Amino acid sequence: MKSQSQIVSRTLVRLHSSWAVAACGVTLLMCVSGCGSTPAAWFRPNMVEATKQRLTPDQERQVSTVMLAMFGTPDAPVAPPETGLDEAKLQLAAGPVHSDIVGRKNGLYREHCAHCHGVTGDGLGPTAAFLNPYPRDYRPGVFKFKSTERSDKPTHEDLVRILHNGIPGTSMPSFALLSPPKVEALVEYVKYLSIRGETEIALMRAFFELDDEAQGKLPETREFLVDEVLTPVTEKWKSAADALIAVPEMASDLDLAASIAKGKELFYGDKANCVKCHGPTALGDGQANDYDDWNKAIVEVSKEVKSGLERAGETSTSGMDSEALAEHRGQLAWLDKFGRVLDGGDALRPRTIQPRNLRHGIYRGGRRPLDLYYRIHAGINGAPMPAAKGTVPPEEIWHIVNYVKSLPYELDGELGADRPMVAKDRF
Ligand code: HEC
Ligand code: HEC
Repeated sequence: MKSQSQIVSRTLVRLHSSWAVAACGVTLLMCVSGCGSTPAAWFRPNMVEATKQRLTPDQERQVSTVMLAMFGTPDAPVAPPETGLDEAKLQLAAGPVHSDIVGRKNGLYREHCAHCHGVTGDGLGPTAAFLNPYPRDYRPGVFKFKSTERSDKPTHEDLVRILHNGIPGTSMPSFALLSPPKVEALVEYVKYLSIRGETEIALMRAFFELDDEAQGKLPETREFLVDEVLTPVTEKWKSAADALIAVPEMASDLDLAASIAKGKELFYGDKANCVKCHGPTALGDGQANDYDDWNKAIVEVSKEVKSGLERAGETSTSGMDSEALAEHRGQLAWLDKFGRVLDGGDALRPRTIQPRNLRHGIYRGGRRPLDLYYRIHAGINGAPMPAAKGTVPPEEIWHIVNYVKSLPYELDGELGADRPMVAKDRF
């Protein structure tokens, strides 16, 4: 289409020998060929999981068919009643940006979020490859900055707070200027994309457990689709409000200087061992070769496939038949050749995660002492940052919070000459 319009524009230039007319012609042509021919938005299948589970094209098709029946399309989403999601809110957030008959703006997700988080919520929007950290892939249903225990879902209020505040120190903006009903609709839609993504992963994993009787076909019964696959996913979302972290009161007569000193001891001690990652200077210069869960999945899949291909090179030692191998090669061309999002790409180039520089005083999950308490108590889900819960008694976590809060203000001299690096050398 592009080259065709170029030919036509060159012809126009020759005919009229006027750039202005040519420019108008090209614009008109682009409009005629572009308008109305935009393909409908679609949910991109989770190819990292499909590759990991070594699904055949037929199995992928089965999953896509079930997904379409259960969750609809980006323009016409449906939510099974078991999800408890509010369809009216979903409609407001879904679809292309347009006004409905009462003049209310629809398509909020595509207007505000999709260029980063992707239409599918896979974190593969067109801007994603340029951002660090990458926008979140909601599909594994893992969220970081919340008031619940590590592996539990965020509460509704947690997600509202994220949209209100954004995530400081990252490209995730604040949407505080959107009206509350719009924020509600967007939060509902994030949950929808997440539940949808988790269901897809569960279906892809289900092939392994099928017995011989099933003959490689996913059962289409309610017992299987709802009771076995969907319910375990939705139950976790429904029980989030019961998984709140119990926070003890900070002692009202607390001696702050003594608390900070105690916190420092814990920070560098064996029990909490924050120093392992955040480094002896707390500048985040400890262990830095780890991946978060999203990147780890891509690294593992690419390693596995690479070793599969190598083994296949040794002809008969390969466990895969040639058809399966060709399928894997085809599926992972994006990783080997590009390793980044191109049209139709399935994942971003994996990146390691840096432990945070705690002397900046920028906290992604919020800077209230309570937010820091949550982070230290439960760790950061999906990231290597572990929970202090279990190793540090609940009241003593407040000492670590107080020490962390004091770090941006600690004088250079206090870092100690015995430490390998001090803040002023680093910047
Ligand atoms: C400019 C890019 C960008 C836009 C636009 C954007 N986000 Fe994000 N979002 C991010 C990044 C980057 C992260 C990951 C931050 C991290 O992992 O520290 C993120 C993370 C999130 C999270 C995960 C929070 C958690 O606790 O783990 C949610 C939920 C979210 N975004 C929702 C939205 C919604 C809804 C919109 C639209 C209203 C939106 N985002 C628009 C970049 C963006
Ligand atoms: C295994 C490595 C590791 C250990 C041990 C560790 N952290 Fe972290 N920490 C990280 C990583 C990685 C991040 C960045 C996570 C992210 O951005 O998603 C982080 C982030 C943080 C943050 C920033 C939270 C925010 O909202 O932005 C704080 C505060 C923090 N860690 C404190 C601590 C404390 C206190 C300890 C000891 C009790 C500790 N960490 C132990 C790896 C670690």
